[in-house]
Amino acid sequence: MSKYITTPIYYVNGEAHIGHAYTTFIADTLARYERLKGEDTFFLTGTDEHGQKIEESAEKAGKPTQEFADEISATFKNLWDEFDISYDKFIRTTDEDHMKGVQKAFEVMFAKGDIYKDFYEGHYCVSCETFFPQTQLVDGEFCPDCGRTTSVVKEESYFFKLSKYEDKLLEHYANNPDFIMPRSRANEVINFVKGGLHDLSVTRTSFSWGVKMPKSIGDDKHVMYVWLDALLNYITALGYGSSEELMNYWPADIHFVGKDILRFHAIYWPAFLMSLDLPLPKHIGAHGWWTRDGEKMSKSKGNVVSPKEVADAYGVENLRYFMLREVPFGQDGDFSQRAFIDRINSELSNDLGNLLNRIIGMSGKYSDFEIDSVDVEKYHAKEIQKMNIVLDSLDAFLENLQTHRYLEELWKLFSIGNGVIQECEPWVKMKNGQKDEALATVAVVANILAKAAIMLHPIMPNTTNIIADALNFEINTASYKEMILEKKLLKLFNIKKVPPLFPRVEEPLMQEAPKGEPETIKEEQNSKNKEKETKKEDDNLIGIGQFFETSLKIGTVVAAEEVPKSKKLLKLQVDLGEETPRQVVAGIKEFYSPDDLLNTQVCVVANLKPAKLMGMMSEGMLLAAKDEDGLCLIRPQKPKKAGTPIG
Ligand code: MSP
Repeated sequence: MSKYITTPIYYVNGEAHIGHAYTTFIADTLARYERLKGEDTFFLTGTDEHGQKIEESAEKAGKPTQEFADEISATFKNLWDEFDISYDKFIRTTDEDHMKGVQKAFEVMFAKGDIYKDFYEGHYCVSCETFFPQTQLVDGEFCPDCGRTTSVVKEESYFFKLSKYEDKLLEHYANNPDFIMPRSRANEVINFVKGGLHDLSVTRTSFSWGVKMPKSIGDDKHVMYVWLDALLNYITALGYGSSEELMNYWPADIHFVGKDILRFHAIYWPAFLMSLDLPLPKHIGAHGWWTRDGEKMSKSKGNVVSPKEVADAYGVENLRYFMLREVPFGQDGDFSQRAFIDRINSELSNDLGNLLNRIIGMSGKYSDFEIDSVDVEKYHAKEIQKMNIVLDSLDAFLENLQTHRYLEELWKLFSIGNGVIQECEPWVKMKNGQKDEALATVAVVANILAKAAIMLHPIMPNTTNIIADALNFEINTASYKEMILEKKLLKLFNIKKVPPLFPRVEEPLMQEAPKGEPETIKEEQNSKNKEKETKKEDDNLIGIGQFFETSLKIGTVVAAEEVPKSKKLLKLQVDLGEETPRQVVAGIKEFYSPDDLLNTQVCVVANLKPAKLMGMMSEGMLLAAKDEDGLCLIRPQKPKKAGTPIG
């Protein structure tokens, strides 16, 4: 069985922003996942280059339209290449084959009697490239979708008989409840259709930047309406109207789109396909809208997030992880550096990165990097069972586009891995001469990591290849089948050292977004007065960002001893969930004995510069409170995983 996955094609009136990157990341993730499962997959993306909007943008830039389109289209393609997007074809609507296919489709619809000539009089939003009847405008003038002023259009036009397909469309939605994903978005489409469909104007005569009318119709002052042209890319990319070579991939499994263009994909596109007697796509996946720090992004505010800038600062795969983890598919999402950094530090660096480092470190220390899985079943049947339950649950989440749940579940594997190390304490077993047991623990965690890396591969392809390399295996369909479907354990030999994959981010690496301008002078004045009023109190306050500059973590004391000749100092080894415990020298001897502390938990300032106390390195500080009754350590109320961030 083959799979066909698409992104929208992007308008070439500006460079890519984070919303474009999000659709592309999800589509790329799904395509990679299908390929991993062994499916023959075709993944399409590209640019939408015709229409009045592009013509006007090129004019503004003072460039010939084709040259302008070439330049911006190339910025998209280069960006996706730089991001390792695994598309099979990058289509441009100015490609000859595409234009031929659009003309062919027009001829087929015309021959069928679905297209007729008339006169259009109404309103047009150039930004949305959409016609609106007067009744739908806001205040009789503004676009109901984007709020911009519309222009009046009076021209001869060819119309597509959209109204003819009303019942068939409703029947299709009823019979295919998963046609629109998430299902919660289906109602707005169904209500729109039930409200009555007007026939759709599908040609324009007032500008010329579009696919020409087919010669057979002989009305060459018309060019195609840009949405008819654009939607057809999904079949012309497969050779419709030209080579027909790849039409075996049709129908598409899923078209990913933003919620703003769902209507075009869930109403117009299926109606066009019905007219062409072609099967309909299986799903339309509509995602939500991204904001920045809670505000709508716009060029005029200067707060548009450039995916290139984010990727340069934080790494593209971290960005993929963040976007897919942060937002339930279909809902709006917010890009904030703080939230992004928190996920990098706690989920990528702590949970995953440290686990890998620990395995590399322990395998090196205990057995010269050579580990095998012979004793894993014997000592760790319980963890293997837990791991398999998680692995079995994953597929359904991605099939339902629930990327955030997929990753949330996947992360349970790292808590199983970190948990088993904490519970089994292989370093103690090594000291006690129970080497087999210690190595079995290292091996079970290495297996957990390997399987997690396979399942994380579609989201973080290059990072997981490095993990696989460190664990001495390859991620591909064969290893997916053996290790995930057949649940085999990996025989691991020669674990390799790799540099830390997820360095902690201590402070934002990009400039913060400019805040939205106050809308009126009055508002500006009001806010200035308020600022004065609160200034005094604010002097003693810190922002949340400043608070988070201190990395506080839960630590488990794994060794404690008195510092000889010191009245005050104890020397502790504190497990912070890292490869090796940290040494902390603390002035608490008058209040605690080593026995009071061994195997208990403490709160540690983890990003303090190391310091020497009585010639001993101290790599952290314990939180404590002291009053006239003495000193007491601050401890978690319930046991928490070593390394759990506090805050
Ligand atoms: N050219 C049309 C699509 C034609 S598909 C046959 C188009 N292009 S676009 O460049 O304006 O938008 C492309 C995609 O980006 C759309 O899916 C849109 O929803 C998405 N986004 C644009 N801004 C966005 C955000 N702020 N957040 C998330 N996605 C957003 O529409």
